[in-house]
Order: sequence, then structure tokens, then C-alpha cells
Amino acid sequence: MDRHRHLRTRPLPRRSGRDVLALGTRPHPPRRLRPSGTRVPRSTHRRHDPPTPRRDIRFTIYRLESGEPVPAGVATLLPDHAVRTAEYIIMLAPEARGRGLGTQATRLTLDYAFHIANLRMVWLKVLAPNQAGIRAYEKAGFRTVGSLREAGYWLGQTCDEVIMDAVAGEFEGPSIVKPLLTN
Ligand SMILES: CC(C)(COP(=O)(O)OP(=O)(O)OC[C@H]1O[C@@H](n2cnc3c(N)ncnc32)[C@H](O)[C@@H]1OP(=O)(O)O)[C@@H](O)C(=O)NCCC(=O)NCCS
Repeated sequence: MDRHRHLRTRPLPRRSGRDVLALGTRPHPPRRLRPSGTRVPRSTHRRHDPPTPRRDIRFTIYRLESGEPVPAGVATLLPDHAVRTAEYIIMLAPEARGRGLGTQATRLTLDYAFHIANLRMVWLKVLAPNQAGIRAYEKAGFRTVGSLREAGYWLGQTCDEVIMDAVAGEFEGPSIVKPLLTN
């Protein structure tokens, strides 16, 4: 076997006057060795399928004080179904904040994630100075598991980003959303 068949020589620019070895002349690694890009094993067949489009789970949050539902914000789960986890993102309109709505919406979203979407873990990132957010997430069932130092900006200053998670096994209380969706 010719052990040097993947080695090539190519001329250097004219002024150097010498040749140099160039390694790895194959443009791509062999197909069956190409990494799948996921953290779980997948069959070769699935690896070469086009990726499945991710289906975000989106909720509109309504205020109900007036009797008529008034849109007040959005909550989103960004699932990674290969590992049954999701990132959580919430945004309330300024006038809807500080009334307990963020806590309630977050708790209902976790309820849905664990009892309907069959997720195992939900996580989020929140800027460390966002104490209202951190407090609301803790009350809803998240806990702080770490931080990314100097990962964000708050009022023009760098700040850490807090990482929080919630796991299905620790989610307490009966499900509110399951009876609503399965009856
Ligand atoms: C973050 C957000 C979802 C929280 O929702 P919310 O409805 O305002 O929060 P809640 O009223 O349910 O709870 C807030 C809690 O924080 C407390 N809080 C408010 N400001 C605080 C502060 N500066 N320090 C400490 N606690 C504070 C409140 O007292 C309340 O706790 P309590 O019920 O024990 O008194 C909402 O404010 C929001 O959408 N903000 C803008 C977007 C955003 O920051 N999104 C999150 C990105 S990760």
C-alpha cells in the first residue's frame, strides 16, 4: 500500500525556490466518519437526513383582570428533543410587570413542559441584576445552578449571566394544565 498517497507537494511562491509538503489534500473526511453534530448517538442514516426543523413552543400571556383577556407578553420554550430539554424565554409588556404574572406564566410553562411536552429539564439565562426575573423564576420552580461571568450588559455595564434550571422530578404539585388539555 502506498502510505504517502495522501501527501502532495506543491510549489511555494516563486521567490522561496523550494517545495513544501501539503497534508490532507482530501477536501472532506470520508462520509461515514463525519461528526453528527449532536450529543447523542444517531444512526448513519439519520445523520445524513436534513435536520428536522425545531418547533418552538410559544404561549401568549393574557391579563384577565378586566374580564376580557388582554395580551400582556409571550413565553417560549426552545426544545432540544434529542435530549428532552428546552431553553425558556419570557417577556412581559412593561405595564404588566410586577403583578405576579411572570411567576404564574413561568410556572404554567414548566407544568406544560413536564406534563405535556415530556421534557426532562428546562433552563434559562438571566442577567444577574435582573432580580425581579430571578425571584419570579425561583418562585415558579427554577433554581440557580451557575453563572457566566461578564456575559452580558445591564444599563451599559458588563454583568454576569445567571443560569437556572428546573427538572421534572423536582416539580411539585399537581398539574394544572394536564386536565385542561386532556379532558
Ligand atoms: C422578568 C419578568 C418576566 C418577571 O415577571 P413579573 O411579572 O414582573 O414578576 P413577578 O411579579 O411575578 O415577580 C417578581 C418578584 O420579584 C420581586 N422583585 C421585583 N423587583 C425586585 C428587585 N429589584 N429586587 C428583588 N426582588 C424584586 C417582586 O417583589 C416579586 O417577588 P414577590 O412576589 O416575592 O414580592 C418581567 O418583569 C419581564 O418580562 N421583564 C422584562 C423582560 C425580561 O427581563 N425578561 C427575562 C429575560 S431572562
